[in-house]
Amino acid sequence: MVMLLAFLLLLYYGAGNIHCSRVNYGNITDMLSLLDFKAATNDPTDALRSWNRSVHYCNWTGIICSSFNPGRVAALQLPGKSLSGEITPSLGNLTFLKILDLSSNGFSGQLTPLNQLHELVILDLSTNSFQGIIPDSLTNCSNLKLMDLSRNMLAGPIPTKIGSLYNLIGMDLSKNNLTGVIPPSIGNGTHLQTLVLQENGLGGSIPDMFGKLSDMIGFSVGANSLSGRIPPSVFNLTSLQTLGLYANKLQGELPLDIGATLPEIIVFTLGQNMLQGHIPPSLGNASGLQVIDLSSNNFVGEIPSFGKLLNLEYLNLGHSMLESSESQRWESLYGLTNCSNLFMLSLDNNQLQGAIPDLVGKLSTHLTSLHLSGNNLSGIVPSSLANLTSIIDLDLSNNSLTGTIEGWLGSLKKLQSLDLHGNNFVGFIPPSFGNLSELTILSLAQNEFKGHIPPTLGKLSQLSRLDLSYNNLQGDIRPEISELKQLIALYLSSSRLSGKIPDDLGKCQGLVTIQMDHNNLTGVIPTSLGNLLSLDMLNLSYNDL
Ligand SMILES: *[C@@H]1O[C@H](CO)[C@@H](O)[C@H](O)[C@H]1NC(C)=O
Ligand SMILES: *[C@@H]1O[C@H](CO)[C@@H](O)[C@H](O)[C@H]1NC(C)=O
Ligand SMILES: *[C@@H]1O[C@H](CO)[C@@H](O)[C@H](O)[C@H]1NC(C)=O
Ligand SMILES: *[C@@H]1O[C@H](CO)[C@@H](O)[C@H](O)[C@H]1NC(C)=O
Ligand SMILES: *[C@@H]1O[C@H](CO)[C@@H](O)[C@H](O)[C@H]1NC(C)=O
Ligand SMILES: *[C@@H]1O[C@H](CO)[C@@H](O)[C@H](O)[C@H]1NC(C)=O
Ligand SMILES: *[C@@H]1O[C@H](CO)[C@@H](O)[C@H](O)[C@H]1NC(C)=O
Ligand SMILES: *[C@@H]1O[C@H](CO)[C@@H](O)[C@H](O)[C@H]1NC(C)=O
Ligand SMILES: *[C@@H]1O[C@H](CO)[C@@H](O)[C@H](O)[C@H]1NC(C)=O
Ligand SMILES: *[C@@H]1O[C@H](CO)[C@@H](O)[C@H](O)[C@H]1NC(C)=O
Ligand SMILES: *[C@@H]1O[C@H](CO)[C@@H](O)[C@H](O)[C@H]1NC(C)=O
Ligand SMILES: *[C@@H]1O[C@H](CO)[C@@H](O)[C@H](O)[C@H]1NC(C)=O
Repeated sequence: MVMLLAFLLLLYYGAGNIHCSRVNYGNITDMLSLLDFKAATNDPTDALRSWNRSVHYCNWTGIICSSFNPGRVAALQLPGKSLSGEITPSLGNLTFLKILDLSSNGFSGQLTPLNQLHELVILDLSTNSFQGIIPDSLTNCSNLKLMDLSRNMLAGPIPTKIGSLYNLIGMDLSKNNLTGVIPPSIGNGTHLQTLVLQENGLGGSIPDMFGKLSDMIGFSVGANSLSGRIPPSVFNLTSLQTLGLYANKLQGELPLDIGATLPEIIVFTLGQNMLQGHIPPSLGNASGLQVIDLSSNNFVGEIPSFGKLLNLEYLNLGHSMLESSESQRWESLYGLTNCSNLFMLSLDNNQLQGAIPDLVGKLSTHLTSLHLSGNNLSGIVPSSLANLTSIIDLDLSNNSLTGTIEGWLGSLKKLQSLDLHGNNFVGFIPPSFGNLSELTILSLAQNEFKGHIPPTLGKLSQLSRLDLSYNNLQGDIRPEISELKQLIALYLSSSRLSGKIPDDLGKCQGLVTIQMDHNNLTGVIPTSLGNLLSLDMLNLSYNDL
């Protein structure tokens, strides 16, 4: 986009004040082509109102005429005008066109052959509903520098002939339904700076050719079905700022010197692959890094220090086999207290052990997500956690954490999702929960909480999922529960709850699941439950009802 803007500026500049004095004649073909295009286009907002014969076509909305070839259309730009329909082949007659931008509309059908548009520099048809294949003939537009066909429904292979577009600087074909392999010939375009092919159905391996594209700044092929090793030459692209390889089937290890060979890297997303080996400590030297996603791979060993990555915002190392055997390392929290912009930290489902270090409270005040679930963490949760007041999403589930929770909980007023299930937490459920008014998901299941369910829970007006099952709770299910109007799932199984089921529970109209089995509930099943039209699962077994 930034590049696109730069080009547009250039063009406007170059074009000068084209509308005045010099242009009083024009090429009738261009006007007829445009009228033909208009006639075939649905225009519900009348965006093309000015496209009529009382206005010179060089002054029509979205049209810029050439300064060098007076009367010839150089740019047709109608982004986001709610236009739809099929594009007429007559656009192919605008032979002086340099910019064609019809992005963010509802155009559909096959891509028109634009093979006569030899002057075309920018082609942006992104975010429409184009179908069919990318025609070979497009590769005749040999002056193309930017091609954006992303967010359509294009299918079939990327034409091998795309290699003849050797002036390309940027190409974005993401979010289509393209299949086949990435043609190695793309590597022919030695000026290529951005190649975005993510979210398609591409297979095969990443061509080794790409290592030659030394100007490459952004390379994103995530969410395809690419396999094999990542060619080592990719890690040699020293200008690279974005490397997006996530959600493929890529294998192999990361090179040890990656931090030195990718000094400019900002976004590094390799999650959801089959990568293995250690996370190279040198990665902590790539000081521009803002986003690291290595999650869902088979990385082993320790997490390196990221204390030099002062711009780091997002770190996801979840779902691997990382360890914290050397207690000193975990204690230093990998230098992350230095990363004052960190908003997301996920180390879940690894093999971290020991206590959560006190330093956790010194993490960024911007931290909104902290996921440490599915490790072997033990001990009490340090009260310094109370300092992370921006936290929205806290997941400490499936560890062996113990102690009470009121010490750190009350000040986390922005919490929307709190998952503590599958630990050994003890004590009462603190009434201060009632102050966490943003909570939508609360799970305290499978712990050793005791005492009554605090009535203050009834104040959580956003709560949609409440899971308190498998604890030692006793006493009544308070009628306040019925005030949880957003509630969809209520789990209270396997505690020692007694008394009646609140009559008004049927007022929680969204309820889909109610599980209260294995308690000591008595009385009758409230008739109001019969009003719950969405109810899908009601389990009241093993009670005295
Ligand atoms: C375009 O519009 C401007 C101002 O509205 C006018 O001065 C100019 O003559 C028009 N150009 C043409 C080619 O009609
Ligand atoms: C108009 O454009 C057509 C097609 O490019 C060309 O054949 C014709 O010579 C042009 N006419 C003028 C007056 O420029
Ligand atoms: C555009 O060019 C085609 C041939 O390529 C021709 O048949 C058609 O009439 C032209 N359309 C306009 C509107 O000039
Ligand atoms: C032609 O375009 C002008 C400028 O937008 C507009 O004022 C006028 O109403 C249009 N005429 C017709 C017949 O649509
Ligand atoms: C490319 O353009 C040339 C010259 O206009 C034309 O002869 C050729 O058929 C075009 N090729 C394709 C594949 O459209
Ligand atoms: C590679 O680019 C050259 C021009 O630099 C061109 O002649 C050749 O056909 C292209 N190769 C492929 C496979 O497209
Ligand atoms: C993508 O292609 C597959 C198989 O050709 C098809 O089943 C699927 O519906 C397509 N998806 C879209 C979004 O077009
Ligand atoms: C990486 O670049 C260095 C220096 O330019 C070169 O010696 C090395 O062979 C390259 N490695 C790969 C895998 O391309
Ligand atoms: C990080 O960079 C420094 C300075 O260039 C270097 O001394 C150190 O060995 C590097 N660390 C790693 C792990 O590569
Ligand atoms: C934190 O950053 C400072 C420089 O701002 C640096 O001296 C220190 O070594 C860093 N801490 C870690 C653990 O890397
Ligand atoms: C929270 O941060 C403040 C200021 O940084 C500090 O004084 C206090 O000790 C911290 N609280 C905890 C519980 O760590
Ligand atoms: C249920 O109540 C009976 C007596 O009322 C008691 O014996 C039993 O232990 C209780 N069960 C639980 C799980 O609390």
